[in-house]
Amino acid sequence: MNHAAKTILSPGATVAVNRPCPVAVVEKPDSLFERFAWIYIFCREKVFRDDTVRIIRAFWPAGEPPASSKVLELGCGPGFYARALAQRFQRISVLGVDSSKELVKYARERATEKALHNCAFVWGDVLNLPQPDNSFSHLSYSHFCALFASQPWARMKTWRVGRYQYALCEKG
Ligand SMILES: C[S@@+](CC[C@H](N)C(=O)[O-])C[C@H]1O[C@@H](n2cnc3c(N)ncnc32)[C@H](O)[C@@H]1O
Repeated sequence: MNHAAKTILSPGATVAVNRPCPVAVVEKPDSLFERFAWIYIFCREKVFRDDTVRIIRAFWPAGEPPASSKVLELGCGPGFYARALAQRFQRISVLGVDSSKELVKYARERATEKALHNCAFVWGDVLNLPQPDNSFSHLSYSHFCALFASQPWARMKTWRVGRYQYALCEKG
């Protein structure tokens, strides 16, 4: 099973990007993403497919997000997609959250290097975000299900627990 944990809430996920709220921190010393961050960074930047265009089409069929959209990427890793969206759409803001300190550090450094002022990255556990429910506008559950159903998964299951919506997807 390929767990598709790419969750971008938009448009209008309300997060403070210029002064991001601290998120609950989590120590995961055994996380492979933390221990082998540089390998993931290398693969993400140089080897893995770039799905930015597919993501844009899936979320914003008109081709671009409404101006001032606030996008939240959970499990953003090195921030590849958060940075790509921020660079492409200067009038949106993007917040990336990840539990790997190394990856968050890398994401911040690359964003600074590219002078991207409309994205920010914070270290934390996406399953324990401190923001109250009404801090985020989000895809309705039916929209969320329809979005995953529109992609070419061999099998796919969606469910929700509290304010979290999940999709478990298997590649064809
Ligand atoms: C497969 S990587 C995807 C990274 C990024 N979305 C991308 O496409 O390059 C999954 C990421 O989720 C992060 N992650 C896993 N569980 C998490 C959690 N509970 N809270 C925050 N980040 C988490 C990992 O540290 C890792 O960077």
